[in-house]
Amino acid sequence: MHAIGVDIGGTKIAVGVVDEAGNILAQVRRDTAADDVAGIDRAIADACTELVAEHEVGAIGLAAAGFVSPDRTSVQFAPNIAWRDYPLAQKVSELIDVDVPVVVENDANAAGWAEFRFGAAHEATDMVMLTIGTGLGGAVVVGGSLVRGKWGVAAELGHMRVVPGGHYCGCGHEGCWEQYASGSALERDARHAAIAHPRRAARLVELAGGDAEAISGPDVTRAAQEGDELAVELLATLGRWIGEGAASVAAVLDPELFVIGGGVGAAGDLLLLPLRKAYTAELSALGHRPEAQIELAQHGNEAGIVGAADLARR
Ligand code: BGC
Ligand code: NA
Ligand code: ZN
Repeated sequence: MHAIGVDIGGTKIAVGVVDEAGNILAQVRRDTAADDVAGIDRAIADACTELVAEHEVGAIGLAAAGFVSPDRTSVQFAPNIAWRDYPLAQKVSELIDVDVPVVVENDANAAGWAEFRFGAAHEATDMVMLTIGTGLGGAVVVGGSLVRGKWGVAAELGHMRVVPGGHYCGCGHEGCWEQYASGSALERDARHAAIAHPRRAARLVELAGGDAEAISGPDVTRAAQEGDELAVELLATLGRWIGEGAASVAAVLDPELFVIGGGVGAAGDLLLLPLRKAYTAELSALGHRPEAQIELAQHGNEAGIVGAADLARR
């Protein structure tokens, strides 16, 4: 059966028809705003309506960046989108004229599931996916099963506290991992560095059109690939935060593989090498235990679509 997967981000949604082997057969996008939840509903319904006109689908999966209820119908809370106890599946169903089940999944769980079934982790039984974007998302597969927890919100890894009294987080606490190991953290640090050290940041500011406050993650990656020293350092710092945190995750889960997803994966070894180094440096019992592999995701930005669709038909 074909299914639709919807990846809902803060500024856009990506919607695709996915076959049983995880291939995307057709895809559309819509712009959205993180504070306009009704607008997100309409954008999803509109994109789905367009796709079902051409494709027969048996289910719709919505990958949402937030805490999803165990019955997979609602988003209870989201740090970076305005959902609060929001019956997302019902809202979208009401706007669509086809009678198929609509299922909500956490976005990182969806991406992790795609990598587990069809991507970087297809040979693994125990894996952890970390999605590095606006937030830091987690997906945990143990013994071949996605771990959901008692109330659906297991693997909210981005909200582990790593810095007591650290940066304020959208979840209401301070010092969460995602404030240090996310695309947003990379951008914040790059912008601060550009203001503090204008000379070192000249190339970054140039790439951002002359505005230090507009430096983006892709600008940092691009500058680093050109050899820009500050950009290389910024990516190494991000890699270190991810790697050190992953070592703590390994203390709980002992996975065979960490899969790293999100746009910053485009930085390749500029991110991965410092990340692996920090992971090893922080891993307890080093030398006396097998070490997990750390690899980049294979589905890139499409993992959320593929995983949401595949989970929706289960
Ligand atoms: C949210 C998670 C989400 C992650 C990645 C975090 O801030 O709490 O639910 O998976 O961001 O989008
Ligand atoms: Na998750
Ligand atoms: Zn938090």
